[in-house]
This record gives sequence, structure tokens and C-alpha cells, in this order.
Amino acid sequence: MGILEGKRILVTGVLTDASIAFSVAKLAQEEGATVVLTGFGRLSLVERIAKRLPQTPPVLELDVADTDQLDTLAARVGEHVDGLDGVVHSIGFAPQSALGGNFLNTPWEDVATALQISTYSFKSLAVACLPLMKEGGAVVGLDFDASRAWPVYDWMGVAKAGLESCSRYLARDLGKHNIRVNLVSAGPLRTMAAKSIPGFKEFEESWPERSPLGWDLTDTVPAAKACVALMSDWFPATTGEIVHVDGGAHAIGG
Ligand SMILES: NC(=O)c1ccc[n+]([C@@H]2O[C@H](COP(=O)([O-])OP(=O)(O)OC[C@H]3O[C@@H](n4cnc5c(N)ncnc54)[C@H](O)[C@@H]3O)[C@@H](O)[C@H]2O)c1
Repeated sequence: MGILEGKRILVTGVLTDASIAFSVAKLAQEEGATVVLTGFGRLSLVERIAKRLPQTPPVLELDVADTDQLDTLAARVGEHVDGLDGVVHSIGFAPQSALGGNFLNTPWEDVATALQISTYSFKSLAVACLPLMKEGGAVVGLDFDASRAWPVYDWMGVAKAGLESCSRYLARDLGKHNIRVNLVSAGPLRTMAAKSIPGFKEFEESWPERSPLGWDLTDTVPAAKACVALMSDWFPATTGEIVHVDGGAHAIGG
């Protein structure tokens, strides 16, 4: 029996088969879950990628900046499953001016977009799914270590610092619904989101060297395993936590 046997899981953020969310959806199915996906923008692409999963899941449209789509999400998900036990937020976006070393010149409108899509949406998604989580469950988001300033990551780093805080406040307010809220802080992975960061190579070169366990920039499975574990019954008393899945790099100075 898998660790998600009988659980109903909503996974956002599948774009390609290199997406962290793709690995989460695949592992969740392999561990016994029923999975529903949401996709943003290029839905036909997401539907094509979804066919590569062990079972083809339904794909619903969700732009986290679209209030109507958020307001109707529970009803639309409810057409496929009778509730949710887990929700995965694997969403991030920042305009080009907010990345790549332009920190001092990024206009507020672009910072606002980065924060709305990458930070505030964690709350929006959790609240949109709340009507389906009557028996409690788990919400998991994808983080990149925001405890320090990195080269080129710029306002996305600020957005991730906000995500870490948002996760703790969500944990505070959703605990009474028996909902756990946690983040997986992953090391750098070569996904579409990462490729859109000018200068991402700087992470690629140093991370495997800094990590006591080494780090494979193309392997999304370790981060996905942590997401699946956090949605299982094996973390029943953990909430407001950040689990680092980064080869151990966060623990090492220099
Ligand atoms: N790749 C890395 O190095 C890395 C490391 C740590 C954390 N993360 C985080 O993992 C998460 C997933 O990113 P990924 O690396 O798998 O890249 P990805 O490009 O595969 O996924 C990003 C997803 O965000 C979605 N998205 C963007 N704007 C959206 C919107 N308005 N509404 C709904 N969805 C929207 C995209 O459609 C895409 O599916 C992000 O939060 C990212 O910051 C990535």
C-alpha cells in the first residue's frame, strides 16, 4: 500500500515533464493518490504532459491572479473528487526586470506581480480549496532558501521570504481546520522557471560543490518525495515547517 492510498490531491504547476509538480503528481499517483491537476495558460501543453503520468488526470484551468477562477475552483475540482486531502502549490513567476541583478531599478508594478503570483497565491489557493478540505489535510508549497541574498534571484528572493512567512501564518490560521501547511525548500533545478532567471548558471556551478550530499540539477524526485511525504500521514504533527531538500547546502557556510 502506498503512503497516499485513498488520498485526493490537487497539484498545481505542471508545465513540462521537468516541472517539480510533474514529479509530485507522478509519485502521488504511484503512492495511491487520485490526482487532479491545474494548469496555467498553455492548457493544451499541460494536457499533453498529463498523458505521460501513470493515469491521465483531469486538468483544470487556474490563473492564480484570476479571482473568478479561484472562486470557482472548489466547484470545478468537486466535479472530479468529493474532497481534497492535499494541495500542492508549485507556482512562481517574476517579470524579467525583477531578476538578474536589476534589484535597485525594478519598478513596483513588476515587484507586485512577483509577489501576487509567487507569494499571495499560496494563501489564495489554500483558501480556494478550503471548502473541499472538511476532514483536514495538508498544503505544501515550493520554496527556495530565503534566509540570505543570492546572486540574480533578486525580487524572487523577496517573494520567497514572503512565502516562508505566509506559510507560517497559514499554518496558524488553518490549524483549527486540521490542515497542515509546510514548504519544501529545494535546491536549484533546471525547469522552465529556472531557465527564465538570467544568470541561473551561478547557482548551477556552486550548488553541487557546496552540498554535502551532492546535488543533481536535473532530478526533481527528491523534492517531490518530500512533498508527498508531507501530504502523507507520516507528518501528523508538523506544520509551519520548511523542509530543505537541497543536498544539505543550506547548512554549509563559505
Ligand atoms: N527550479 C528551481 O530551481 C526551484 C528551486 C526551488 C523552488 N522552486 C519553486 O518550485 C515551484 C515550481 O517551479 P518549477 O521550478 O517546477 O518551474 P516550472 O516552470 O515548471 O513551474 C512553474 C509553474 O508556475 C506556473 N505559473 C506561473 N504563473 C502562474 C499563474 N499566474 N497562475 C498559475 N500558475 C502559474 C507555471 O504555469 C508553471 O507551471 C516554484 O514555486 C519555484 O519557485 C524552483
